[in-house]
Formats: sequence, structure tokens, C-alpha cells
Amino acid sequence: MRPRDVRALIRPRRPILDPVDRTLAHCHTIDDLRRAARRRWPEGVRGYVDGGADGEVTVERNRTAYERFSLLPHPLRDVTEVDTRASLLGVESALPFALAPTGYTRMMHNQGEPAVTRAAGAAGIPYTLSTVATTNLEDVARESTGDLWFQLYVWRDRALMRDLVARARDHGYRALMLTVDTPVTGLRARDLRAGFTVPPTLTPSTILQMAAHPVWCARMLTGAPITFANIPGFEQDPMGAMAMSAELFDASVSWDDLAQLRELWSGPLVIKGLVRPDDVRQAASLGVDGVVLSNHGGRQLDQTIPPIDALPHVRDAVGDSLEVYVDSGIRRGTDLVIALARGATGCLVGRPYLYGLGAGGERGVTAAITMLADELRRAMQLLGVTSIAQLRQEGETLVRDTAPGSSRRVGADAGGVGWAS
Ligand SMILES: Cc1cc2nc3c(=O)[nH]c(=O)nc-3n(C[C@H](O)[C@H](O)[C@H](O)COP(=O)(O)O)c2cc1C
Repeated sequence: MRPRDVRALIRPRRPILDPVDRTLAHCHTIDDLRRAARRRWPEGVRGYVDGGADGEVTVERNRTAYERFSLLPHPLRDVTEVDTRASLLGVESALPFALAPTGYTRMMHNQGEPAVTRAAGAAGIPYTLSTVATTNLEDVARESTGDLWFQLYVWRDRALMRDLVARARDHGYRALMLTVDTPVTGLRARDLRAGFTVPPTLTPSTILQMAAHPVWCARMLTGAPITFANIPGFEQDPMGAMAMSAELFDASVSWDDLAQLRELWSGPLVIKGLVRPDDVRQAASLGVDGVVLSNHGGRQLDQTIPPIDALPHVRDAVGDSLEVYVDSGIRRGTDLVIALARGATGCLVGRPYLYGLGAGGERGVTAAITMLADELRRAMQLLGVTSIAQLRQEGETLVRDTAPGSSRRVGADAGGVGWAS
């Protein structure tokens, strides 16, 4: 090459002055966002978001479950126009996924839940606010421009629970999601080791952790105090997830509670945290509109089946009688494709948007949603499908379970749990 040719190849990079833009310019996948967020978070927050219960076997399996599938692309079909819209609980969403409920969100970035709801609204997808949010549901509703769902835990104090339901209804939350996989909280060893509480407890060890992350620390100190904003009376006590749920959650929760909730809430009602076909059948018989097959992202009972594996069994058991959502482990567009092709109505994502929030606040959440949207669109084009309906219709020919001994789709054994023998 002549010097002139080399010179022609040199492209000086314009410096990016805005720190968030600079961070996001280097993030191309959810994994990149995760790394960026982890650099900004103290150990307690890193462990709270990434961690799971007990040996974290489920956290790992939720990922490997998706990696087991093979895709069988169908080329030579015009894929110029791709439509990623889907109907989620009766309302059109720009994408076939919603943002899952996550507690303590302002610990990841002080922009917190309002930033997440704004990003979801701008992207045209639903956001589910957690009962243990760090912004109250009224303030989140004020910031929202999109479809809002509210997630409910069953409390010992049933009056408080009924009050939350009424507040959610009065402030425009369209759907109610009852989480049922938390009669007690899984052992979160990372939280205990790091002394993670909300609000943060100041001990020599947590002060050291925070001091190593001055930007996060400055945001926490200059923002409004972190509290369980929806739970009156719990504003001041620092406590971890396990202690909080031991104090507030009701381990006696049963199907009777679900029946009562159905009476109380006339809008779309979704049960989150089922994986067994017999349970989903029972939920359908009580008139719920949908279920989220979920193991809480591996944070509750360790070694629970990955929801993506439970999905075809559930679909065989209940057909199209109710909407079936899947979460836990979705990190890429191809994961969304696999879930939809195996019969999911739609998906929920949790950690991916928290990584975005940690990396860049509201813009980071937007980046996470955009990445998943672009990856989904590209995966559909490369697969040879142009709509979510087509993906579902042709799903069995497009996705193959390559685990040794697996059959592609297994019939339900009526009357039993629903697992094929
Ligand atoms: C940090 C964090 C907090 C969570 N808090 C709640 C919660 O308050 N209520 C709930 O129903 N699920 C909660 N979940 C579970 C999510 O709703 C969802 O099921 C899970 O994140 C899906 O797995 P994924 O993170 O691999 O996408 C939480 C998950 C995480 C990671």
C-alpha cells in the first residue's frame, strides 16, 4: 500500500462528550449493557440483579435451555417488510414482549421506575410495575404514556392488598398480574453476603463498596430516599428482600385468594409463576386471562424447570383458551423467536432492561428494548417469516429441540399433571 492509500483509510473518531452516549455507543448486545451496568454498580446491587436462589442452578439453566434449540431457516421468501406487532392482553403492542415487574428499581439508577415506564411507552410496549417498586404507583402512572400493568403479591394484610388493587385500578393500570411463586423468598446468598438492603444500610463494608462507585453513590445521595413506596409504614426500615417478604408476604396464599381477586378485578388478570399444566388448567377454569410461565428468573425455588421447557406441555393442556407468556432467561431476539415459535403469546424480560437502566438510565432502557427489537426483526428475516402470527403458525418447522432424547412436542396426559411420560 502507498502512504496515500493508508491515509485514505484513517478515520479519526469524533470524541463523544456525553458520558451516557459514550457508554451506549460501545454496547451492541444485552451482554454489553450488563457489563457496563456492572461497572457502575456496587457489589450489593450487582448481586441483587444477577443473583438467584440457592446454588443458582436455575439461573444457569434458564440460559442453557434456550441455547439447546436449533433454528431451521426458510430462505427465499420475501422478508423486506416485517411486522413485529402482537396483541398482548387484548391491546396491540409494537413488540411481542412486556417489561417484567422488578422490585427496588431505583437502586439500579435513581431515575428508576419513571424512566422505565417512559422508555416502554415510547417503544409501544407494556410495563409491569412491581408492588415493591421504589416509586409509588401514582407517580409512575403520571409518567406513563403506554400500556401499564400492575404486579401484586399476596400480603398478610389483605386490606393493604385490596387497597393496592383499588389504587392500581383508579390510576389506569390496565392489567393485574398476581405473582404466586413467592409464598416465601428463595435464599439469596449474594444479598446476605453483601449486606444488600433497601434503603442501603451503612456498615464499614457497604460504605467501602459504595465508595468504589462514586457516581452511583452521588446519585443515591442526591435523589429522593429509597423506600418501598407503595407500602405505607415501610418507608424507613432498611431490609433485604428475604426479610421484607418474611414480614409481609402470606405463605397461606391459595386458589381461594385467586378466586377472590377475580371478583375484585374486572380487567385482564394474569397469574405469574406457574410452570405445571395442571395449575394452568385450574387458573383457566377460574377465569384468568393469562399466565406467565416463570421461575422468577431463577430467584425462587432452585432447580425449577426452565419455562421454555414447560411451554409446549402447557399449550397442549390448555390450547388457546388463555394467553401464555414466558419469561426467565430471555436475552436475545432469537430467544424471543424460540418462545413464540413454541407457542408463547408473548414474553416478559426482566434483567435485560435493568442492565440498560444501570448502564444509562432511561436511554439505557431504550437501548435494551431497541436491541431486542432489532435482533427479533433480524432473526425473523433470517428465518424467513414476516409476522408474529406466521412465526407461531410455522413454529414447529422452524425450531427444533436438539436435546438428546427430546421430542419436539409432547402430548398432555389428560387428568395427570400434564407431563408426557
Ligand atoms: C432484580 C429483580 C427484581 C425482581 N422483582 C420482582 C418483583 O418485584 N415481582 C415479581 O413478580 N417478579 C420480580 N422479579 C422477577 C421478574 O419479574 C421476572 O420473572 C424475571 O426477571 C425474568 O427473568 P429474566 O430476568 O431472566 O428476564 C424480579 C427479577 C429481578 C431480576
